[in-house]
Amino acid sequence: MSDWFKQAVVYQVYPKSFQDGNGDGMGDLRGVMQRLDYIKALGANVIWLNPVYENSGVDGGYDISDYRKIAPEFGTMEDFEALLEAAHARGLRIVMDLVVNHTSTEHAWFRESRRDKTNDKRSFYVWRAPFEGGAPNRLRSVFSGSAWRKDEATGEYYLHMFANEQADLNWHEPRVREGVYDMMRWWLDKGIDGFRMDVINMIGKPEEALIADGRAEMDICNGPREHEYIREMNREVLSRYDIMTVGETAGTPPEEALRYASLDGGELNMIFQFEHMEVDGGRFGKWSTNRASLPKLKAVLARWQTALHGKAWNSLYWDNHDQARCVSRFGSDRDEASRVRSAKMLAACLHMMQGTPYIYQGEELGMTNYPMRSIEESRDVEAINAWHELVEEMHLLTPQEMMEAIRSKGRDNARTPMQWSAEANAGFTAAQPWMPVNPNYVTINAAQQEGDPDSVLSFYKALIRLRRKNPVVIDGDFTLLMPEDEQVFAYTRCDGKHTLLVACNFSDAPAKLDVQAASRGKRLLGNYQSAGEADTLRAWECRIDLTE
Ligand code: GLC
Ligand code: CA
Repeated sequence: MSDWFKQAVVYQVYPKSFQDGNGDGMGDLRGVMQRLDYIKALGANVIWLNPVYENSGVDGGYDISDYRKIAPEFGTMEDFEALLEAAHARGLRIVMDLVVNHTSTEHAWFRESRRDKTNDKRSFYVWRAPFEGGAPNRLRSVFSGSAWRKDEATGEYYLHMFANEQADLNWHEPRVREGVYDMMRWWLDKGIDGFRMDVINMIGKPEEALIADGRAEMDICNGPREHEYIREMNREVLSRYDIMTVGETAGTPPEEALRYASLDGGELNMIFQFEHMEVDGGRFGKWSTNRASLPKLKAVLARWQTALHGKAWNSLYWDNHDQARCVSRFGSDRDEASRVRSAKMLAACLHMMQGTPYIYQGEELGMTNYPMRSIEESRDVEAINAWHELVEEMHLLTPQEMMEAIRSKGRDNARTPMQWSAEANAGFTAAQPWMPVNPNYVTINAAQQEGDPDSVLSFYKALIRLRRKNPVVIDGDFTLLMPEDEQVFAYTRCDGKHTLLVACNFSDAPAKLDVQAASRGKRLLGNYQSAGEADTLRAWECRIDLTE
């Protein structure tokens, strides 16, 4: 098994918001093709493409009705093949989203399954009888409300851990697993380079969580048969191809990651852990305006770095299509200077850790959160459902409080169109965009940053070049410095020959560095022109120094 996944720098494309290629206001595959040179110039060598399959339009493509078809809004299978070929011609690999915890209720399997209790495909999904006339138990959907929905045809309930239209597959049914493996082979035989596996730690659900006894409000992640299924998938499919795999696994501690992402290659190459995304949560989970406490954030990330070193492999991310923009969330978008400095600082802090970095479209420009005015503007089923529950049904948050929470953590922030230029609609489309463009595109856009050596974009390019030149970035161990400090995130990476010192100021006030963290060696990269004092970091400053 080759380990190119360790050398990968992944650029995530959310196709609906990346580039419109046919003037209908929605991004598409032809649009992605037009921008391959941009991704190549950044230095990334892998693209993760969010779902482009036929879907029912409820959850940004995560409600798939046919795994083997391209959704018409994104183009055709010919467009996909052309994109794959064009990417490969540039040395770029394409990793596809694999969404197999659930299908759309419009999928042929579900349409059959729901027909009657004795249907051949009944067992493809999780059906339960009512309990005392209501839902089988108290399991809750990640998108608010009960995870059970009554289906009139038979009077039974089906399980949906996400939207009503996303029915959970029953992985305990061998024919489901075979069907999924077949479909995976079909895509891999087309030449794709791997999978990002959606909520993959939910497939081995514990049977106890699914009993119709009115109780069971338990965690269904990382269930007892989880690793058995992933290992089977590895044997049947993954190990037969030269590919990269990454599992999305919220609620997973490092001890579990040692199994999922073990370097022995029996399961996946790496997982997306969520602990650092939960540090700024509140009473209602993600719906809060809290800022992360730096000591907590550092403790989480350091724990992952040291626990996996030499045994498993980390993925590194701040942003994706489900998260708020990191510059607004962990840095500052208050003014242009703070935005540029803090976006670079966050990039340096993340990219110098051990693991495969993921850059979400626009992150490399320092794109910010979107100033949404009212819930009517939201296009996100998660935010809209949470609004109904927390504001309208339970009156736990006022409309103002919830709007602030959505502005600070909602997924819409990540899904506004990519800001290519200062032209109309940021150069994303000539038509009315499916979702509003962030008004700050006039100053924050790729065209403006491309020629500017001090731009956030140029800094990302420099970081990637630095990774390619210095093997210590890939192999070195990790030591956290100044763990309790409220402003400074500093660490070293060491491979016995070279030591990298990375020092970042997560605040807009000057910060003192202790002796170990003080600047030394040769400056490889920083976000200030002048060297500055060895033992002090300026506002949002970051430094990467190398000693041999
Ligand atoms: C994952 C996806 C998210 C989607 C959910 C349900 O978390 O990243 O966008 O809504 O799974 O498929
Ligand atoms: Ca289009």
